[in-house]
Amino acid sequence: MYIKKVKLENFRNYDNLEIELKKDFNLIYGDNAQGKTNILESIYLCAIGRSFQTNKDSELIKIGKDKAKIEVDYVRKDREGKINIEISDKKIFFINGIKQKKLSDIIGKINIVLFYPDNINIIKGSPADRRKFLDIMISQLKPNYIHILNRYLKTLEQRNIYLKQIKFDNKSKDMLEIWDERLAELSYQIYIYRNEYIQKIKEKIKNIHNKITNCGKQDEEIEIIYISSGKTKEEYYKDLIKNRENDIRRGFTSTGSHRDDFDILINNKKVNIYGSQGQARTSVLSLKLAELEIIYDEIDEEPILLLDDFMSELDENRRNNLTKAIKNNQVFITCTDKIIVEDKNNTIYHIENAKLKKGN
Ligand SMILES: Nc1ncnc2c1ncn2[C@@H]1O[C@H](COP(=O)(O)OP(=O)(O)O)[C@@H](O)[C@H]1O
Ligand SMILES: [Mg+2]
Repeated sequence: MYIKKVKLENFRNYDNLEIELKKDFNLIYGDNAQGKTNILESIYLCAIGRSFQTNKDSELIKIGKDKAKIEVDYVRKDREGKINIEISDKKIFFINGIKQKKLSDIIGKINIVLFYPDNINIIKGSPADRRKFLDIMISQLKPNYIHILNRYLKTLEQRNIYLKQIKFDNKSKDMLEIWDERLAELSYQIYIYRNEYIQKIKEKIKNIHNKITNCGKQDEEIEIIYISSGKTKEEYYKDLIKNRENDIRRGFTSTGSHRDDFDILINNKKVNIYGSQGQARTSVLSLKLAELEIIYDEIDEEPILLLDDFMSELDENRRNNLTKAIKNNQVFITCTDKIIVEDKNNTIYHIENAKLKKGN
């Protein structure tokens, strides 16, 4: 799959931009703060529906303007399509010119894998960062997953409101039963998806990691372990009941899918606690390469790669491992220096103050 055209209007630091693209290694280089990452962000938005840089849509609109527009034309094996996003005080999505009801309707039309400096948080960050990694990968592949997640979050919010009403308004505890039932059922459904993808990562990550740490010396064994409060609806339910009084006292729900996590271990030791900086970075790269393979396996074509700040983020060895793993994907690379990736069709763009020039 590849992106044929990107058109931006009043998006971030861009007034107007229109670029035609090929299924190449598209290298975008230029000084800092010129608009390199913003281009990747616009593509990401059309694939995932939200930014990887901010939760505030208003930041995406060029300062002083009231509406931003993004348009991306893509080509897949079996079809072509166009995604439009209009951002003002609300965000509206269109597929082939037709307005969509929900953000989730556009996810999965364009499949991407993003490599960027914040990826290190998959290891070093909070459980929320790890869930985000899993949830975005699964959402791209299983549209129904987003609906289940959304229903879960709504139910969770309602349970939390009710917990406070029990505490402050003397509402009956009996009603909690309804929320516990629903939450346990949805937690279990989420568990099934997350567990399936953790297993897929497990199948791939050992080999990938061996290749990266070179020559299969096997002195580093990587492992991923899913952590959840239950494996069945009954187990999630039991945990909710067990923590009920606690939850009422604290006014929020302390168990369920929103507390799921996973551990990455090297030689049986948690990388986030005991790993070196190098091991953390290599683990992240292994996870992202596993994601790349999983998406490829499922959609049967190469997802688009976005590599932000390529040179500063990865050392030479890791860069080589990454570019070796790239097959026939369309790639967008941003960096401050002009680079050429060997054995690939490079199209080079220089960027200065949101103006993109091809071929220098
Ligand atoms: N909403 C906005 N309106 C105008 N300029 C913006 C907006 N958001 C970010 N910018 C500008 O965009 C530039 C950063 O773009 P970015 O793509 O992150 O640069 P880089 O080339 O370093 O990746 C900065 O100059 C910043 O001030
Ligand atoms: Mg940048």
